[in-house]
Amino acid sequence: MSVYETDKILADYLLMHFGTHEQRMPWGLGRLSAIDFPNVTASYFSNNRVDLTLDLGCSVGGSAFHLSKSSKKVIAIDLSKKFIDAANVLKEKEKMTFEYQEEGEVMTTTEVTIPNGVDTSKISFAVGDVLNLPDGFKGFDRVHAANLICRLPDPVKLLDRLGSLLKKDGELVLATPFSWLEEYTPKDKWPQGDSWDWLQKHLSDEFVCLEHNDEIFTIREHARKFQLGVSKVSLWRKK
Ligand SMILES: C[S@@+](CC[C@H](N)C(=O)[O-])C[C@H]1O[C@@H](n2cnc3c(N)ncnc32)[C@H](O)[C@@H]1O
Repeated sequence: MSVYETDKILADYLLMHFGTHEQRMPWGLGRLSAIDFPNVTASYFSNNRVDLTLDLGCSVGGSAFHLSKSSKKVIAIDLSKKFIDAANVLKEKEKMTFEYQEEGEVMTTTEVTIPNGVDTSKISFAVGDVLNLPDGFKGFDRVHAANLICRLPDPVKLLDRLGSLLKKDGELVLATPFSWLEEYTPKDKWPQGDSWDWLQKHLSDEFVCLEHNDEIFTIREHARKFQLGVSKVSLWRKK
């Protein structure tokens, strides 16, 4: 079973996307407790209002809910049925109850809610493979793909498809910690050399890079163990 189909990782991501600061990082490590990564990446887009946004590898939907505030429609795709089922519960009920791990078998039950001011009818969540998107997927104003490319068996296949998804002047936000692991990506598909150079090389024919920064994200595994990552977040405009 894929790691993204387990109850454990579902709870980890529900807390990452919808948990309180205290639940996400209760150790008072300054700005780490305030990280809201799914909102940070969604905030890279311009302030314009747009028609159609695509969120690739949306997980439990945190970014999609934020993206819907400035888009008439959002399509959000993830390979994990468990994640999409949870995103659809949040879409329908605007809240969800689940258990997350404190230590060993000691669990805490919590209820999370979606961000305020979201019209959930604008969002469609679907199980799908970003490496086999339907041919009809084109004409998007925005594409968002956070912490996805280094979880794919063939990242270049997605990079090569991004241009055809967007309208001219459409915006792309790509976030990645370049955390290459053979578990997800065979070594012959890893970048040779610097990953940021590799990414720019693959996107620069079809896109202009407008901004790029390093953004911290945290994922709580249990009460005393946290993943800390630094994602390269970049905003691109389709030529
Ligand atoms: C590291 S998580 C990041 C999730 C979310 N974007 C975030 O920033 O929290 C990677 C996500 O990509 C999804 N994923 C992996 N391979 C995929 C594929 N081929 N098609 C669609 N989603 C995929 C996983 O199920 C998981 O939800």
